Amino acid sequence: MLDADFTELATERLRLRALRADDAPALLALYADAEVMRHWIHPPWAALSQAQAAIEEARRDLASGRALHLALETRGDGLLAGSCALYDIAPGHRRATVGYLLAEPYWGRGMAREALAVLLGHGIDTLGLDRIEAEVTPHNFASQSVLARLGFRREGRLHARWRVGGMTRDVDLWALLRHDWQG
Ligand SMILES: CC(C)(COP(=O)(O)OP(=O)(O)OC[C@H]1O[C@@H](n2cnc3c(N)ncnc32)[C@H](O)[C@@H]1OP(=O)(O)O)[C@@H](O)C(=O)NCCC(=O)NCCS
Repeated sequence: MLDADFTELATERLRLRALRADDAPALLALYADAEVMRHWIHPPWAALSQAQAAIEEARRDLASGRALHLALETRGDGLLAGSCALYDIAPGHRRATVGYLLAEPYWGRGMAREALAVLLGHGIDTLGLDRIEAEVTPHNFASQSVLARLGFRREGRLHARWRVGGMTRDVDLWALLRHDWQG
């Protein structure tokens, strides 16, 4: 289902491109920040090898069509501002899940919405998805606001969905349906 010729997507401020091996130090800095990872489904990373393994997995998934895991690079200075992904792609059901995070200096500037607008458009218009899901912790108000403004609706709570750092975590399931997409 993934576009074998995928190269990159672009917005006014960001380039959405495949992760590269040389992103590992910047990706580690992103995923090692406890504040960025506060609502994530695994603890912050602590080693460069975790970033390297994630990049290798992302590149394998891109080649096999299982997921599109992209770097968010600033167009001005070429820095890694964050990452985003369409994963758990189920072509037979025209469904996938979206994930995203930004480094703290880029928060509060509407960049997640800007990046997701093109990623979701790619998922719906190019990949033919009818449904894109997101799992969000109930206290992640910024993420909920981003999703709501893009047309996602909250469908319900998944109780004890994850265990993170020895604690059980609930998440809310949000979904964007093709007919709610304003792209
Ligand atoms: C969630 C995240 C991606 C949001 O990206 P962003 O580009 O900073 O989002 P925006 O600047 O568009 O702000 C989103 C909205 O949330 C609001 N907001 C920000 N922090 C908030 C808070 N603590 N409480 C309530 N609303 C908040 C903003 O005012 C904005 O409102 P608006 O849509 O009415 O303008 C970013 O904060 C992030 O990377 N967080 C860490 C990783 C993460 O949680 N990822 C999502 C996992 S589901």
